[in-house]
Amino acid sequence: MGIQIAPSILSADFANLERDILAVAEADWLHVDVMDGHFVPNLTLGLPVVERIAQVSPLPLDVHLMIEDPDRWATRYAEVGATSVTFHLEAARDPRAIAAQLRALGARASCAIKPGTPVEDVLPLLDTLDMVLVMTVEPGFGGQAFMADMMPKFERLRAAAEAGGHDVWLQADGGIARETIQTVVEAGGDVLVAGSAVYGAQDRAAEIRALRDLGEE
Ligand code: DX5
Ligand code: ZN
Repeated sequence: MGIQIAPSILSADFANLERDILAVAEADWLHVDVMDGHFVPNLTLGLPVVERIAQVSPLPLDVHLMIEDPDRWATRYAEVGATSVTFHLEAARDPRAIAAQLRALGARASCAIKPGTPVEDVLPLLDTLDMVLVMTVEPGFGGQAFMADMMPKFERLRAAAEAGGHDVWLQADGGIARETIQTVVEAGGDVLVAGSAVYGAQDRAAEIRALRDLGEE
């Protein structure tokens, strides 16, 4: 399978959200950043908004929870229509249980690690996960600079997934653009989130195609 592109609506115009969701229908996933103002120093949107986005989006939702207490909240996002739910390892009390509950609801279970979190912390969970999100910026804001020093995490995860026979997608989030996408793909990333690169472009569909073409080169 080739790479997948997940535009992040964090960089969309929230006053024209449906228009901006339809503008990226060319992509594979719609990446929805949920921030609670506690786990990260920014506040975006929550359950009722995600529920409506799921109703209007032609793409499946890839919900990225940057919130405290995902043990309580993660399954609720699957219940309102998210196809994939990512919770942060740093915030989870029982990551194995969260992943199992998500899968029981038919959702894809995914776990994220911040730049300061060692990749070793997530390796024991690979059998319970459908995706691992390696943050390539500090979570909280769009438009930050890509951290190339996270690439060894992808290499390590790719090797561990292959060794263990786990079919796990590896997602990169933060600073993905034409200049950086190939670096991530070479390291083993296959689901690429892009916020400012896609929504900052005049022609969003063309930008998605350009990113996909570069990533698949
Ligand atoms: C940051 C979010 C990202 C953000 C990425 O915490 O998780 O999804 O939208 O934005 P860019 O692509 O602009 O770095
Ligand atoms: Zn995100």
